[in-house]
Order: sequence, then C-alpha cells, then structure tokens
Amino acid sequence: MEKLIIQGQNPLNGEIKISGAKNAALPILAASLLSNAPIQISNIPHLQDVTTIVSLLGQMSVRITLDERSNIEVDAGRLDSFHAPYELVRTMRASVLVLGPLLSRFGEAEVSLPGGCAIGTRPVDQHLKGMQAMGADIRIENGYIRAKAKRLQGATIVMDIVTVTGTENIMMAAVLAKGQTIIHNAAREPEVEDLANFLNALGAKISGAGTSTITIDGIDELGGGRYHVMPDRIETGTYLAATVITRGKIKLKNTRPDLLESVLLKLEETGALIDTGTDWISLDMKGNRPRAVNISTAPYPAFPTDMQAQMMAVNAVAEGTGVITETVFENRFMHVQELQRMGASIALKGNTAICSGTDKLHGAPVMATDLRASASLVLAGLAAQGETTIDRIYHIDRGYECIEEKLTQLGARIHRLPSDTKE
Ligand code: UD1
Repeated sequence: MEKLIIQGQNPLNGEIKISGAKNAALPILAASLLSNAPIQISNIPHLQDVTTIVSLLGQMSVRITLDERSNIEVDAGRLDSFHAPYELVRTMRASVLVLGPLLSRFGEAEVSLPGGCAIGTRPVDQHLKGMQAMGADIRIENGYIRAKAKRLQGATIVMDIVTVTGTENIMMAAVLAKGQTIIHNAAREPEVEDLANFLNALGAKISGAGTSTITIDGIDELGGGRYHVMPDRIETGTYLAATVITRGKIKLKNTRPDLLESVLLKLEETGALIDTGTDWISLDMKGNRPRAVNISTAPYPAFPTDMQAQMMAVNAVAEGTGVITETVFENRFMHVQELQRMGASIALKGNTAICSGTDKLHGAPVMATDLRASASLVLAGLAAQGETTIDRIYHIDRGYECIEEKLTQLGARIHRLPSDTKE
C-alpha cells in the first residue's frame, strides 16, 4: 500500500489554488442522471471518489467525456441499467445518491445498502422515508434497496434529523415528481445549495436551498446545460489549519470565505491573522504557537464535523487545553489514538475529547482510518519533530486533490512511497 512520508517542522508558506468541492461534485454527477441531454461540468476535482461515481455512471451506460482541462461532459440519454452494485457502493457511501435520480426519471432503482463505515453506522432511513412519502415502493432485499414508483408524487416531508445526502437525494427525487415537494428540516450545507443551483441551471424549479425549508416544483423533463462546481470549503479549511499548526503564512485562491465563517472564527481564536477577498483567504501565524480552542461540531452553519480531526491536530500542539465535542457522528475519533502515538495528550469521554497541548509532537508510523482522520495525521506530521509515515493513504486520495504537490509547493517536505517500495 502507498504511504506518505513527511519530515516535519517546516512552516507552510506560499500560495495555492483550491479545487472543486468533492461533496458538491458527487451529488451533481449523480443528478446528471435526471437529464437526457448533454451536460458540461467544470471544476470537478481529480479524486478517487469522483472516479468511483464516474465508474458507477459508466456501468449504467452514461457517456462521460473528459477534456484536457478536466471539464466533464455527461450524457445520460441512453441508460441500460438502474443498478448500483455493492462493490462500488461499499467503497463510497455517497453512491446512494443515484437512488433519487434513477427513481425520479425511470421509476426504478436497485442500489446496494451502504452498510457501516469507520465513523459510525450511518443509516439511510431518512432517504428512504422521504421517497416512500412520495409514493415509492421500497424493499430491502439481499442487501439491496429495491425502489419502484410509477411516477413520484410531490409530498411534504419533515426530516427527523438533518442529513446532507438525505436532503440531496430527496431533492433530486422531487425534480421530476408530479406536483410540489416541500422538505422541512433540510440540511443547509452550501453543497446542497450548489446542487440546487446546478439543477435549476438545467431547468428545475427549486427554491429555498441553503435554508431549512426547500420547495421543489416537479417538472416533466430536465434539459442540458453547463455548470461550474463550487470550491471545496473543507480542503480550504484543511490548508488553513495546516498553516496554523506549522506557524506559517498562506494565501488560498479560487475559494469562498463566506462558506467558512465558523472555521475562520475558530482559526482566529488560535491566534491566526486572517484576511479575505471574494475568492481568496490569507492567513498568517506570525511564527506564533497556536492557542487551543473549544469546538462543538453540528450541521451548517455551525462548525463542520469534516474539520474536527484537523482541529484536534492543532489542539495537540497548541498552548492550553481545548475541548472538542463531536455531535454529528458517533465514532469520529479514530485519529485520537494515532495522534497519541505521536505524543498528543488527549482524553476521550464519550463524544468529547479533551486535549492538553504539548510543545512538540514526534514523528511516528501512523495509519489513516478515514478521510478527515488522515488529513489530521498529515497536519500532525507537518508539525512533528522528525519523520512521520502515514499508511493506508487511499483514504486521503478520496478527498484531497494532489495533496503532496500542493504541500510541496508550500514548502513542506512530503513524498509518496509507491506500494511496492520498502522503506
Ligand atoms: C455528508 C458529507 C460528509 C459529512 C456529513 C456531515 C457528502 C458526500 N458527505 O455525509 O462529508 O461529514 O455530510 O456533514 O456530502 N443519518 C441517519 N439517517 C439517515 C441519514 C443520516 O441517521 O438516513 C445520520 C448519520 O448517521 C449521521 C447524521 O445523520 O449521524 C448526519 O449524516 P449525513 O448528513 O447524512 O451525512 P452524509 O450525508 O452521509
């Protein structure tokens, strides 16, 4: 398996561009199943998760062409399968996002149940409940969700919990349904809004995305069009946290500070000097050690669970004690044990981690357990004294485009060891 090797203690310094958002690109690619006309999508990041969804669409005979500037053209005019197999869904839970579009356009879908994952049980009951309310007949058979509907009917749906992909799946299902659908207690994440903007660009009638009530007026057919995916706010936050932990100075371009308010406020609490423009963010630690911060994760606009692990790494080397409470996923502290192996002092109590900052972390061999946990290990490795080797980095490749190239550009000493190389 490939590994990342990091020689720590080089402050990050310089300028990089942020990529398109993984969590917007995935639902947008799934949503292209709703249209029978060609769609051009730009700012799609090069990521393993994108390859997975592209393979899934390809298996259904969706025509996908990629040009030299990474623009993707998707043509779902001729589909010959409504099946999402276990082999693909188990590698990426977001594959379940094809359920809503398939059911809405073809009245039929067979999608593997995602099953558990490292950060919790992550059921899809809310997705199914919403589609059932719209008249779908849904059965769970042999590990598959088998859904059928003559034509989905608009409905008023109150989500029991705030779920991002659940909101997206129901919103996509409602696009070609008959009549009006209202989703109450919808997720307000910017990626939900980006998906709605994409669908509206193709002719859908969605309003209220980005708020907790979304209204979708069903239409008969969705056309083609062009769309530019929003920037990745979690990649942005990760590079900012990496700069805080290494006491560096950075400018990030092609991003959107307005999507990161809760994160920027916390980074300022660590002592970072932050400046922003419409599409850029700069951060300067002036060489100072960060101060520990208290964080409680919650759905947008509160502090994102996808930035929790990275901030744990920051607290590990910060001055003082920081308390982090994870309220979104029940088992999202897998990085704690690995950070402890590098010398972090973290006590876990249920869904709370109490971290007393230490002056120095020490490089160590560590293992990535999920996408954002691996980002926290990269950050810890950048700050640590000596060499850190991170194993199982396929998790990182799921969500960070060219991570070692971008970090190298910022002055980090990091390289990838191919899988067949012995250290
Ligand atoms: C999305 C993001 C992920 C992020 C998460 C929370 C994508 C592709 N992934 O994941 O990066 O960490 O939002 O911001 O966008 N739940 C249920 N029943 C359901 C659905 C969810 O109980 O039917 C629970 C989950 O177990 C979890 C909570 O709701 O505890 C929130 O999960 P959800 O918002 O659905 O996460 P994802 O959409 O899977």
